[in-house]
Amino acid sequence: MLVLGIESSCDETAVALYCGERGLVHHLIYSQTEVHQQYGGVVPELASRDHVRKLAPMVEQLLAEANSNMAQIDGVAYTAGPGLAGALMIGAALGRALAWSLGKPAVAVHHMEGHLLAPLLETPAPTFPFTALLVSGGHTMLVAVEAVGDYQLLGESLDDAVGEAFDKTAKLMGLGYPGGPALAKLAEQGDPQAYRFSRPMTDRPGLDFSFSGLKTQVANAIRAGGQSEMANIAASFEQAAVDTLMIKCRRALALTKHATLVLAGGVSANRQLRRVMGEWGQANNVAVHYPRGEFCTDNAAMIALAGCLRLQAGEVVSSNWRVQPRWPLTDLTKPG
Ligand code: KG4
Ligand code: ZN
Repeated sequence: MLVLGIESSCDETAVALYCGERGLVHHLIYSQTEVHQQYGGVVPELASRDHVRKLAPMVEQLLAEANSNMAQIDGVAYTAGPGLAGALMIGAALGRALAWSLGKPAVAVHHMEGHLLAPLLETPAPTFPFTALLVSGGHTMLVAVEAVGDYQLLGESLDDAVGEAFDKTAKLMGLGYPGGPALAKLAEQGDPQAYRFSRPMTDRPGLDFSFSGLKTQVANAIRAGGQSEMANIAASFEQAAVDTLMIKCRRALALTKHATLVLAGGVSANRQLRRVMGEWGQANNVAVHYPRGEFCTDNAAMIALAGCLRLQAGEVVSSNWRVQPRWPLTDLTKPG
């Protein structure tokens, strides 16, 4: 089964071909960073316009580079939410139209389900059941995953997502947009013990997160320390965020009794997070999986994969053509 995946929920335009039997065939990602950089964040209207400009030519390029053609496609998977409404509509309109013209099913994929399943693009792939830490720019969630579509939310952020905290902190430090990777890079030159920022909500039971307070602590440190302290502040902030995620993951695994931990979403590209989780997993007999860097952040390979798994499991394609800018992951059900 060959599935075309389309991702356009935010500021990446991406397309992919995933084969149920052979795995990922080909994929392309175009980042709009340059479009939004001068504004210090994503401008929704500009994002939509750029998706319109790029998406159809990218599908053509994808098929040509993969020596494939439209007639070989068995289904079209597109991101239907959560995300920016206008941006989602571009991908949904193209995905639905292509599927309709081919007489093939169109599958509306949940962006975070895509992230959650992205580690399945790797070898060895994690096996179900597993506990997932989903860390992106919009979400911080701990999820018990029994199977595709069988998700139990264990905990989530009550305010800023951890990626958002990285981005806002980076902005405070004058590191520009997108801030997360820039902050992580600067942190490599700093001492993570230089400042003791709090590990929010770890002093009480539960699996929820709160990251908004950290940026206030960082703002105070910047004011007191000045420019020469930036690397130390970045490293100490990163360590506080990673420690907090680690503590909650350990708690979640104690609850689920799963032997596999999956890290996914943009922040799972963070090297310090991967290192800390990996070392802990090795010492505690927990298999830790995460996608390669380009599949941590937004991509269409994960959307094509999720769509393919749903179609293979007997997803009944609905006539619901809505996009859902807000769409709780827990609304999803098992396909079939
Ligand atoms: O999953 P994603 O590409 O988009 C959303 O669905 O939100 O995640 C983007 C987020 C941004 O907040 C970005 O700063 C963060 O992931 N990010 C990182 C790193 N790479 C991306 N945060 C920390 N360290 C990184 N290396
Ligand atoms: Zn994402």
